[in-house]
Amino acid sequence: MEKEIIETAVKAAGRAGALLKDNLGRAGKIEYKGAVNIVTELDRKSEDLIIETILKAFPGHGILTEEREELKKPGPFRWIIDPLDGTTNYAHGFPFFCVSIAFEEAGVIRFGAVYDPMLDELFTAEAGKGAYLNDRLIHVSDVEDLSRSLLATGFPYDLRTSKENNLDHFADFTLRAQAIRRAGSAALDLCYLASGRFDGFWEMKLKPWDVAAASLIVKEAGGAISDFKGAEFSIHGNECLASNGLIHAEMLRVLSKKIDKKTAFAR
Ligand code: IPD
Ligand code: CA
Ligand code: CA
Repeated sequence: MEKEIIETAVKAAGRAGALLKDNLGRAGKIEYKGAVNIVTELDRKSEDLIIETILKAFPGHGILTEEREELKKPGPFRWIIDPLDGTTNYAHGFPFFCVSIAFEEAGVIRFGAVYDPMLDELFTAEAGKGAYLNDRLIHVSDVEDLSRSLLATGFPYDLRTSKENNLDHFADFTLRAQAIRRAGSAALDLCYLASGRFDGFWEMKLKPWDVAAASLIVKEAGGAISDFKGAEFSIHGNECLASNGLIHAEMLRVLSKKIDKKTAFAR
């Protein structure tokens, strides 16, 4: 991997993160993209800053980002960006959000960076080279039982109008895990899983920019990631199940609903 790719991703994440941190509590005008799906002025400013940083170094690369049309370029290189993951938190001044930047070559994610400016935590991974939190190599947890695990999830923005809104799985897991957190940033949730703070994560209807960087970080930290049936995970798919690997089968059983109703109360 070209050193300049990593340096550019880290620089862009750092600049955008600093901008977001400095403006927390001043999100600016809020626009509604859906009933509960918002975008703030700071989402767009962060996006502009990241795009500018990347295009200055790599004017020939494509860019897929949340708040504007995809910038298509010939050639195999594309950046996939969420300029602010955790917008709802951000708009309320709840300090759990991040910037997510992935670099893709011919459809394969080669590098990912997720930056939480509030804690100054930078999660990174290069394909085949492990995952890091700042300078420290990270690894998923060794919790073996779902009943002892701390899980994370989120709900899709169409939850008021779609039956596939995760409330059923949420109830099933709530009765079987030690506890569940709904913190509001899928990319950070996945990085918390990669660093052993969470043991499992599931969510549906995520977008490529939510998961492009963090899914590589999970894999490189030794985690397992799949769809809800255990098939190969895709950043373009509808389902994301990630875990420390040890509780993956148990989580798949819960998602498949092929579970003994009594198991929730067995331990
Ligand atoms: C959202 C967050 C949230 C998840 C949503 C995402 P945004 O991204 O990651 O945790 O539950 O599904 O869309 O809109 O804050 O970038
Ligand atoms: Ca997002
Ligand atoms: Ca976003």
